[in-house]
Amino acid sequence: MNILVTGGAGFIGSNFVFLELKEHPEDRIICVDKLTYAGNLKTLKDVMDNPQFVFYKTDICDREAIDEIFAKERPDIVVNFAAESHVDRSIENPEVFLETNIIGTSVLMDASRKYGVKRYHQVSTDEVYGDLPLDRPDLFFTENTPLHTSSPYSSSKAGADLLVNAYHRTFGLPTTISRCSNNYGPYQFPEKLIPLMIANALADKNLPVYGEGINVRDWLYVEDHCKAIDLIIRKGTVGEVYNIGGHNEMRNIDIVKIILEELGKPESLIVHVTDRKGHDQRYAIDPAKIHAELGWLPETMFKDGIKKTIRWYLDNKEWWEDIISGDYQNYYAEMYGKKEVID
Ligand code: NAD
Ligand code: DAU
Repeated sequence: MNILVTGGAGFIGSNFVFLELKEHPEDRIICVDKLTYAGNLKTLKDVMDNPQFVFYKTDICDREAIDEIFAKERPDIVVNFAAESHVDRSIENPEVFLETNIIGTSVLMDASRKYGVKRYHQVSTDEVYGDLPLDRPDLFFTENTPLHTSSPYSSSKAGADLLVNAYHRTFGLPTTISRCSNNYGPYQFPEKLIPLMIANALADKNLPVYGEGINVRDWLYVEDHCKAIDLIIRKGTVGEVYNIGGHNEMRNIDIVKIILEELGKPESLIVHVTDRKGHDQRYAIDPAKIHAELGWLPETMFKDGIKKTIRWYLDNKEWWEDIISGDYQNYYAEMYGKKEVID
């Protein structure tokens, strides 16, 4: 099968590419990524020479370029990870979120219709459900929870989800949607909570905790998310939404303290800073459906996953130091600037 993966140079998309090439070596992976600030081609360096892998530096909003790729590669399955993904950036500049997350999704679905893909999978987020109150630990997001977004980011993702359902109902596009909780693990861009705190702690810089740090997120190791998507695209039911999460709710302040303890750094590095505007209080996924229908369960416990993640950032300092210095953005030009287009 030909699987077209968008956003494969980002955090979850790259982990998904690695999983697919390992678990399904018979399948071909076509990776499409614009290489925005969040995309890093160095992440994919070990698979660039794999004959089952091909990379296109392309914007998913570029209708003509996307059409050409579909015409040439004829994907059987499309998995759309490409997105502007950081809530804080969406508060500063919403527009690019609407372009990539909504228009980009429609461009990919139009090409999927035209070339008759067998499955279009939209990687969505639990943030489309809004938030839950901190004093109601009995409440969880199910697939039937109404969409009720807070940030421009989550609103753009919800807009895309509505469009996916519309393409399924109106045009019969064979779609699925997954909505996952917060991911952590290797190759996460150091603007997100866990890698940012690891990088700052290692540099003995302050760890900026928004407000009191009592907001709750439901953390899942990235490989578990990728395995869930792999199951959905191969065995999930067309037209369905699947929530993905591992019942691992934690307060931000507790995560930060675990990181400091693991690194042997003092809690005096923590500083409480102005809260995020519209800050969602609590996310909590009910994953009963994907467990019952597809047999998915998370495999990595947080206590092990966070240790593995911290180890990875310690062992791969160059990867994130290049990001902090900005050097990674020269890599594409260095790798491809001298090459000629041959077809
Ligand atoms: P990321 O920001 O690390 O990566 C996004 C990737 O998409 C980057 O490689 C970037 O270059 C690429 N991209 C951005 N705009 C593009 C465009 N116009 N055309 C082509 N490529 C483009 O994001 P992530 O954390 O890996 O998230 C991936 C997906 O998973 C997103 O759709 C996000 O909404 C969703 N999600 C993320 C989490 C999480 O905790 N990170 C949880 C649930 C769902
Ligand atoms: O729930 C899934 C979502 O998780 C994904 O859809 C998003 O793409 C992903 O970015 C993530 O969103 P969050 O806003 O939850 O993640 P972030 O890492 O930005 O923040 C996690 C929590 O930590 C949140 O409550 C805000 C807080 N925070 C974050 C940063 C960057 C801080 O206290 N300080 C910080 O510096």
